[in-house]
Amino acid sequence: MKTVIVTGANSGLGLWTTKNLLDLGYRVIMACRDIEKTQKAIDEFPEFDKSKTFTIKKLDLADFESIRDFVDNLSDIENIYALDCNAGISYEGPFRYTKNGIEETFGTNYLGHFLLTNLLLKKYNLERIVMVSSELHNHKNKSPFAKAVFKPINELAYPKVDKNSTLQKQAQSFYANSKLCLVLFAYELDRRLKAKASSIKTLVNAINPGLMLTTNLGRTYKSGENFYRKFLDVIFKIIGLADNPKTSAKSVVRLIHTIKTSGQYFDKNKAIPSSTDSYDEQKARALWEGSEAVIGLKFLTL
Ligand SMILES: NC(=O)c1ccc[n+]([C@@H]2O[C@H](COP(=O)([O-])OP(=O)(O)OC[C@H]3O[C@@H](n4cnc5c(N)ncnc54)[C@H](OP(=O)(O)O)[C@@H]3O)[C@@H](O)[C@H]2O)c1
Repeated sequence: MKTVIVTGANSGLGLWTTKNLLDLGYRVIMACRDIEKTQKAIDEFPEFDKSKTFTIKKLDLADFESIRDFVDNLSDIENIYALDCNAGISYEGPFRYTKNGIEETFGTNYLGHFLLTNLLLKKYNLERIVMVSSELHNHKNKSPFAKAVFKPINELAYPKVDKNSTLQKQAQSFYANSKLCLVLFAYELDRRLKAKASSIKTLVNAINPGLMLTTNLGRTYKSGENFYRKFLDVIFKIIGLADNPKTSAKSVVRLIHTIKTSGQYFDKNKAIPSSTDSYDEQKARALWEGSEAVIGLKFLTL
C-alpha cells in the first residue's frame, strides 16, 4: 500500500483529496494542526469511508518545531510515496506571524512546505510531490486581488507595513506571493532532484485547483458570509467560473496517481505555462537560498 501525506487534510480540497486517495487504495496520513477538528470533519463527511487506511498526525506548518516533530514521528512508516502540499491560509487585516516570527501566509503556505518537503526528502524516497498553488501566482490574472510580485526573502518573510496601501491589499499580496513562491519552489526542486540523478525519480508539479468558494479559505466569520459565499458560488457556476473541492480534488489526485511528467504547472487537469516570473531560475535560487538562511539549514545543494 502506497502512503501519501496530505497537509491541511481536514477541510475543503484536502479533505476531498484524502477521500479520493483512500478510495484508490492509498494509505493517507492526514497532516493537520488540530486533531480533534480533523476527527470532527471526518465524522461530518458522509462520503468518507472510515474503514479505509488513514491516520491523523499533528502538523502545524506555522511552527518549525512542529514540522520537525512531524517528520521525526513518522518512524512507524517505512516509506512515503507522495506529498500533497495542500494546506493554505489567507487573511485580511493586521499582519499575523508564525511561531518563528515570519509573516503567517508566507510562513505557512510556502516556507512551512519548503521545510517539510526537504526534511521528508532526507528521510524518504518520495516519488510524487504536488504544490497546490493558485492562478493568483500569475500577476496577469484578471481578478481584483492584489498581484504577485517577487521580492527578496526578507521582504517576503518579514514585511513592513506600507502606510500607502490598505492592510487588506497587503495581506492579499502575501497570499499571491506565497503561491508564486510555491511554483518557483516546485521548479527549483525539480531541477535539483534531476541534477542529483538519483535512481528514484521524483515527479514535482504545481497546480491551480480553481476557484472554490465553498471551502474555508479566507473565511472572515462575519455574519452572512456563508449565505454570501453560497450565493456567489451559484452565480459563478452559472457563468462557468466556479469550481468545487470535489472535482478539483480529482485533478490533484491525478498528479499523484496518473501523471508521469515533472516540473509542470497544471490548471486543474491541463498543463499550461505558469507566470514569466515562475520560470526565472535566478529568482528561484535566491528564494531557495533565502529560505535556507531563514530556517538555518541547507538542503539539496547543487
Ligand atoms: N478555495 C479556493 O478558491 C482556492 C483557489 C486556489 C488555490 N487554493 C488553495 O487550495 C488549498 C486548499 O484550500 P481550501 O480552499 O481547501 O481551504 P480550506 O478549506 O481553508 O483548507 C485549508 C487547510 O489548510 C490548513 N492549514 C492552515 N494553516 C495551517 C497550518 N499552520 N498548519 C497546518 N495546516 C494548516 C487548514 O487547517 P485548519 O482547518 O486547522 O485551519 C485547512 O485544513 C490551499 O493551498 C489554497 O491556497 C484554494
